[in-house]
Amino acid sequence: MAYYWSFQASLLFLLFFVATSQAQARDFTTHLHFFVHENDNSPNATAITVVNSTTSNPGGFGSIGVFDDELREGSTADSKLIGRAQGIAPEVSLSSQMAWLGLLNFVFTDGEYNGSSLAVVCRATLEGATERSIVGGTGKFRMARGYAITTFVSGAPAGHFIVEYNAYVAH
Ligand SMILES: *[C@@H]1O[C@H](CO)[C@@H](O)[C@H](O)[C@H]1NC(C)=O
Ligand SMILES: *[C@@H]1O[C@H](CO)[C@@H](O)[C@H](O)[C@H]1NC(C)=O
Ligand SMILES: *[C@@H]1O[C@H](CO)[C@@H](O)[C@H](O)[C@H]1NC(C)=O
Repeated sequence: MAYYWSFQASLLFLLFFVATSQAQARDFTTHLHFFVHENDNSPNATAITVVNSTTSNPGGFGSIGVFDDELREGSTADSKLIGRAQGIAPEVSLSSQMAWLGLLNFVFTDGEYNGSSLAVVCRATLEGATERSIVGGTGKFRMARGYAITTFVSGAPAGHFIVEYNAYVAH
């Protein structure tokens, strides 16, 4: 199963959204805390493989996943749903170390940022790199830029991935 996002570095959900906004001259730096929940199992999968690798590359070079993962306030399935992580993740590494180019939007559907979104471009691996670039946004996040630090929380039961996000956004 492809867990585009799920690798330790994954992307997926929000909730505490807490955050602290500090007003500076014109910018705000907001700290967002949430959890991305991905389910690779059908029915009800939030992530699917739409293109399989056409090579014998062990890492699956060229495969492409599409996801519409849940953003929740907490790491449990019953915690408040605050948005979605929608995007694609092609596998882009020819080496044995798998790597995905993640292109996605965090779309907030509840709370203070309901209706706003953040655009993320990132490189995700199974091994490590847990920092992702925030390159833009809409609504309250217009002109956003920043970064997110991710922590892999859980990969069980099989096919279910939970990743914690701490995002720092200037907007
Ligand atoms: C899939 O979602 C439907 C609708 O929410 C639910 O009734 C069903 O139990 C889910 N199936 C699984 C395997 O989670
Ligand atoms: C990709 O390969 C898997 C495993 O062989 C298969 O189950 C799946 O249907 C394939 N998906 C596509 C889009 O070809
Ligand atoms: C979020 O915003 C939409 C559009 O304005 C609105 O319809 C919806 O009720 C809001 N959701 C919450 C939970 O406030």
